Amino acid sequence: MKGVQVIDHPLVQARLTRLRDEHTPHPEFRRLLGEIAGSLVYEATRNLELKPFRLRTPLVAVTGVALQREVLLVPVLRAGLGMLDGALALLPNARVGCIGLRRDEKTLEAEGYLESLPPRLNRCDVLGLDPMLATGGSAIAAAKLLRERGARELAFVHVLAAPEGVKALRRAVPGVRIVTAALDDGLDSRGYILPGLGDAGDRCFGC
Ligand code: PRP
Ligand code: URA
Repeated sequence: MKGVQVIDHPLVQARLTRLRDEHTPHPEFRRLLGEIAGSLVYEATRNLELKPFRLRTPLVAVTGVALQREVLLVPVLRAGLGMLDGALALLPNARVGCIGLRRDEKTLEAEGYLESLPPRLNRCDVLGLDPMLATGGSAIAAAKLLRERGARELAFVHVLAAPEGVKALRRAVPGVRIVTAALDDGLDSRGYILPGLGDAGDRCFGC
């Protein structure tokens, strides 16, 4: 599907199957979610800009590279928190901002309850972390807020995405990159992704 990068690596797909399994208990779910997040972030950062700089090995002078911009990780609470440690394992110098959103179970509208972001997001490569892209309401609210705060280089990393959510996010916030482990079939009448993995926040935190 246009505008979405699906990471079909065997190590990601085998872990994703464990996440989907209704019998996977929350400690294992949380561990797997973090591990998958690391793999997805690895791919999502593949094209980050680099800047050259000079250094010496113990033997000679060489030109090395460093990331051109700081990376800002933005977990969308709650479930996005389950992806944070896996992302930080790859990007230990990243800054972390938080956006708190909860989906109203009746209207499926995303309601914001927390914003904690550093200033000058235009200086960062920004990665939104949220396991689920369902109707797209939450990701759209998060992406719009990040754009308002100056984010230009913006990607969202999801474990599962529904085609409805991908379309809606791309339409509402053009230019956002979407990286996911799977593009599922669609949504049920309650806005859950099918086949999906259930409620990511509940399964991650055991409540
Ligand atoms: C889940 C998920 C996403 C959102 C996706 O969060 O983590 O943020 O639903 O659905 P959408 O694409 O239709 O908006 P939820 O609102 O259940 O909150 P939680 O993470 O606190 O459980
Ligand atoms: N949020 C979830 O946690 N799971 C879904 O399937 C859809 C939205």
